[in-house]
Amino acid sequence: MRILAIETSCDETSAAVCEGDGDSVRILSNVVGSQVATHERYGGVVPELAARRHAEMIIPAIKEALARAQEGYARVDAIAVTYGPGLMVSLTVGVETAKAFSYASGLPIIGVNHIEGHIYSVLADGVVSYGKNAESELTARFFSAPALALIVSGGHTELVKIERYGSYEYIGRTRDDAAGEAFDKVAKMLGLQYPGGPAISKLAVNGRRDAYDIPRPMMDSDDFQFSFAGLKTHVLYSVEKLKKEYGEDGFRALIPDIAASSEEAICEVLIAKTARAALANGISSIIVTGGVSANSRLRELFREAAFAYDFTVYFPQLSLTGDNAGMIGIAGYLKARYTGKYDDAFTLRANPDLRF
Ligand code: KG4
Ligand code: ZN
Repeated sequence: MRILAIETSCDETSAAVCEGDGDSVRILSNVVGSQVATHERYGGVVPELAARRHAEMIIPAIKEALARAQEGYARVDAIAVTYGPGLMVSLTVGVETAKAFSYASGLPIIGVNHIEGHIYSVLADGVVSYGKNAESELTARFFSAPALALIVSGGHTELVKIERYGSYEYIGRTRDDAAGEAFDKVAKMLGLQYPGGPAISKLAVNGRRDAYDIPRPMMDSDDFQFSFAGLKTHVLYSVEKLKKEYGEDGFRALIPDIAASSEEAICEVLIAKTARAALANGISSIIVTGGVSANSRLRELFREAAFAYDFTVYFPQLSLTGDNAGMIGIAGYLKARYTGKYDDAFTLRANPDLRF
């Protein structure tokens, strides 16, 4: 079964072709048009601009994805599209494009939950895993035992328990900022480029992780909720104080230390909560996905935790950590295979608040 997949939930315009066969599914092509250049001067995504760029870029992205997969449109069996959660105006571009294609071609549509896409990105080639079962085949494990997914991006920090395919439960989420947002905001305070996560990560390599005592909000609370607003405010006050003390020039030399200390605090909170949630639920497979899962310190600390607490942790290959249509094609294929349910060109609607 060949699937043309479309993803426009936030600020990446993406189209992909995936091929599923039994329990395995491959990404044949995955075109991701980043809008970073459009939004960086605003320090965050501007929905109206994102939607306009999606409208301009979606057809060229689809054309390119089909060409790279060497698939003619006639060889596609279904169209998968993200219909939520995300920005309403952005989602609408992808959903309406998919509906137009479906109506014109008669191909069925598969509406995909964006979070499900992130979860199943680990089924693609290039998955990185650590821990006792790291070498075992994930697909088989996935459908035979429960797993816990930590989805961390600019818009999400959620812990989802997956009982089996199609059965999900949110067990934790952020009360305020998402983990990626915390990286982005700290980066902005340090005068770094948007998006801030990669910039912080790069500088942190040359910084001391214990240079500053950054709070780890809610790290020891019994629930599985996250909060990053306090951490952000703490860094803001520290930056103001250090600038007064050292002057702008002197302050610049401290940036790697602040980056490394902030990164350590964010990563430690994410890992402590996830590990505790896994233990409390008797789960030994953990999936970490979303833009922040590209962070190398996060991967390193999860690796240590996997051996310390005896679980296996899975990360998607780096090119699939951020938003992309390849993961939507994978989730779409699984939905068609395991539920047999399709949507149609007249009833599917974008849903910015979609939940499981
Ligand atoms: O999944 P994504 O591409 O888009 C959504 O937000 O849905 O995630 C982008 C987020 C940004 O906040 C970015 O700063 C963060 O992921 N990010 C990182 C890294 N790469 C991207 N955060 C920390 N370390 C990284 N290496
Ligand atoms: Zn996402």
